[in-house]
Amino acid sequence: MTHLIAVLPGDGIGPEIVEQAQRVLTALDLDLAFETEPVGGAAYAKHGHPLPPTTLELAKRAKAILFGAVGDFQYDSLARELRPEQAILGLRKALGLFANLRPAILYPELANASSLKPEIVSGLDIVIVRELTGDIYFGSPRGVRSAPDGPFAGEREGFDTMRYAETEVRRIARIGFETARKRNRKLCSVDKANVLETSQFWRDIVIDVARDYPDVELSHMYVDNAAMQLVRAPRQFDVIVTGNLFGDILSDEAAMLTGSIGMLPSASLNEAGQGLYEPSHGSAPDIAGQNLANPLATILSASMLLRYSLDLGEAADRIENAVKRVLAEGLRTADIHEPGTTRVGTQEMGDAVLRALKKD
Ligand code: IPM
Ligand code: MG
Repeated sequence: MTHLIAVLPGDGIGPEIVEQAQRVLTALDLDLAFETEPVGGAAYAKHGHPLPPTTLELAKRAKAILFGAVGDFQYDSLARELRPEQAILGLRKALGLFANLRPAILYPELANASSLKPEIVSGLDIVIVRELTGDIYFGSPRGVRSAPDGPFAGEREGFDTMRYAETEVRRIARIGFETARKRNRKLCSVDKANVLETSQFWRDIVIDVARDYPDVELSHMYVDNAAMQLVRAPRQFDVIVTGNLFGDILSDEAAMLTGSIGMLPSASLNEAGQGLYEPSHGSAPDIAGQNLANPLATILSASMLLRYSLDLGEAADRIENAVKRVLAEGLRTADIHEPGTTRVGTQEMGDAVLRALKKD
């Protein structure tokens, strides 16, 4: 059976990194078909909308989406609903991609890239499971209005709504427990239950779901403490499960612990196993088109795509092993380059991964 992959390169470095990931997928000789559509600023430029109907339709039809990155300075002054970021939010919502898996792994060869001491981060291997379609990101009502009450009544106020339905918490908690079960069986649920009703509710539901997973050790942590623990002693974590807003912030922090955000993939899955796969980093418009970007996060996202949406674990392993081999050979793009290693461009890094694939 041929699997349709929607290729959405996006803006900035998106097209060049996605090109390398697509080359790697093609080289594996799997039964894949690719269709490409613009997204983000590129789609706005072509069709007047960051997520035009043709792009959304392709995304819905595909088994998986290989996504580059969106955003560019030139679109910063557009109305919110036309900004490139709306494409990613729109895809998450339209496809119900509620489960976001963001691994933060420190590759031994890159231990010096972290701004933390090697003894704090060496061996780091965390997965953040972030809820992606609820919380204050999508809660309504929201907007700007005349304050109805309080000391500033009558003044203009901006407001958003933090909310989680029980089903939303249950299903992401299950993903957290299942992920932990495949690893070291430790799950830390992060919330702000000392202040927020939504968080207390979240915690109560997670505790209830835990009854089905007696083999997983569950802990709870307030988000401010979690932010601190991530830089103090990050190896205490195995899997973290948290809501959309806290997960947005903590996943960037965790990515930076490794010092090489250019290496980190992510997966966003729905109930049907359909998924969107993208690097954890952004569109870096300042280095776009210069053959400088690190394609490895996108190549590793392609590996997650095979593993989670197509159930092709062996092919996924091959990609991961090829990436490790290339790092062991000393090849580095500018973002992870250090003395004694060989600096290569985006294209050459893609070439090297292809060569490594052929060797195994
Ligand atoms: C992310 C990004 C997005 C988010 C933005 C681009 C809307 O920061 O994927 O983490 O906030 O979720
Ligand atoms: Mg973010």
